[in-house]
Amino acid sequence: MEPISDSHARELAKQAVRKSTLRAECEAALEGVDRILFEAGCGHGHWLTSYAEAHPEQVCVGVDLISLRIRKALDKRNKRDLENLHFFKAELGEFLEVLPERIRFDLTVLLFPDPWPKARHHRRRMVQPDFLDEVARRTEPGGRFCFRSDDRPYYEWTLEHLEVHPLWEIDPEADWPHEMETYFQGLMDEYFSVVARRIG
Ligand SMILES: C[S@@+](CC[C@H](N)C(=O)[O-])C[C@H]1O[C@@H](n2cnc3c(N)ncnc32)[C@H](O)[C@@H]1O
Repeated sequence: MEPISDSHARELAKQAVRKSTLRAECEAALEGVDRILFEAGCGHGHWLTSYAEAHPEQVCVGVDLISLRIRKALDKRNKRDLENLHFFKAELGEFLEVLPERIRFDLTVLLFPDPWPKARHHRRRMVQPDFLDEVARRTEPGGRFCFRSDDRPYYEWTLEHLEVHPLWEIDPEADWPHEMETYFQGLMDEYFSVVARRIG
């Protein structure tokens, strides 16, 4: 991308350094790994730590934007000594850009993502056509995408995006992969879940 101003050029330069550092971190931590369970916006890592402990055979990777949350998630991982669990402080889109190309997703999980309720902010939601395309590209047929939210409009937005996507099919019979109350789930009175399968 060509910079349109000096401050834009500085931002692009910072982004390039950030992505190159993240790429190196991913390559080192995930050396030899081909398949993962991926959690976007993992927060304090409650759900993923519990999943990784129950499934030592599955390599689990969580990303979140907020450093403090990733530090707390890493503390959980280190206390339990879970070698199959990795957390990265990263923006979702940047993470997907630098993740080694060979890595495929068995399961992708999105729990209580920020709902961004105002229409002009909907483009900030993590569930977007490009995100579903990229997760589908990294997922083999039969792989799953699991979404849970307390926000009904965001849940409906996700259903609508999945319904029109050529590579995802909602599976109303599918079991939820692992029940463990996340920090945000604990704050909510009710929530809505959907599981979709990669088709094709
Ligand atoms: C409401 S919290 C839910 C956290 C956790 N999933 C739970 O259920 O407790 C949403 C999380 O998504 C993270 N997040 C939002 N946008 C993100 C993005 N573009 N890339 C990575 N993380 C993001 C936030 O930092 C926050 O920790």
